[in-house]
Amino acid sequence: MRRSYKLVRLLEKDIDPDPMVQFRIWLGEAAEGELPDWMEINAMTLSTSDGGGCVTSRIVLLKGLDDNKFWFYTNYASQKAKQMQANPTVSLCFLWQHIQRQVRVEGTVEKASREQSASYFHKRPRDSQLGALVSQQSSVIASREVMEKNLEALKVQYAEAEIPCPDDWGGYCVSPHQVEFWQGRESRLHDRLRYRKEGSQWIIERLSP
Ligand SMILES: Cc1cc2nc3c(=O)[nH]c(=O)nc-3n(C[C@H](O)[C@H](O)[C@H](O)COP(=O)(O)O)c2cc1C
Repeated sequence: MRRSYKLVRLLEKDIDPDPMVQFRIWLGEAAEGELPDWMEINAMTLSTSDGGGCVTSRIVLLKGLDDNKFWFYTNYASQKAKQMQANPTVSLCFLWQHIQRQVRVEGTVEKASREQSASYFHKRPRDSQLGALVSQQSSVIASREVMEKNLEALKVQYAEAEIPCPDDWGGYCVSPHQVEFWQGRESRLHDRLRYRKEGSQWIIERLSP
């Protein structure tokens, strides 16, 4: 269970002064080469918390980087959505094990506009659209059978029609105020460069591994 990290170095002289530019470079590098089918390099751990100090984490998929924000889509009545409503400060964490890298983001989350959510919803495969319609995400349900029956009923209902974007489904974007790039190195002396926003400036600092 002990792996040695010796692929590359992460040096101050090699990074972009803008963390979003640097993130795009790393995302691109994570996608390079022959990757196994199951690997989703846009998977990220989203951690949210309520006002009372309860923290929860789960994986969601990064769906865009427009406006220098991290975009994802989910159910607006889910546990994560309730927590983001209570506390808009969230954290994202990407793990790209095949290149021995991690990126951590801390930022403030906002809902996407209805137009943007609907536009993205209609680009999804029909099965995913129906899935979003049928799922009362994070709520307790009687059984899988009940859910599947509801899905069959919706398939019939919308057989000939456009599936509407549910009111309780849509996007969020995270505006980062801190982004840390981690590169695995030998002897556990990993490289960690953290961008911290001060006003409109990004300050880059090296952290001890
Ligand atoms: C690889 C992977 C990708 C996922 N992508 C999403 C996603 O983009 N949006 C989403 O709502 N849930 C996604 N999920 C499911 C979430 O991890 C989670 O189960 C769900 O959003 C409910 O979370 P909550 O009850 O904490 O709100 C994904 C799960 C995995 C394993």
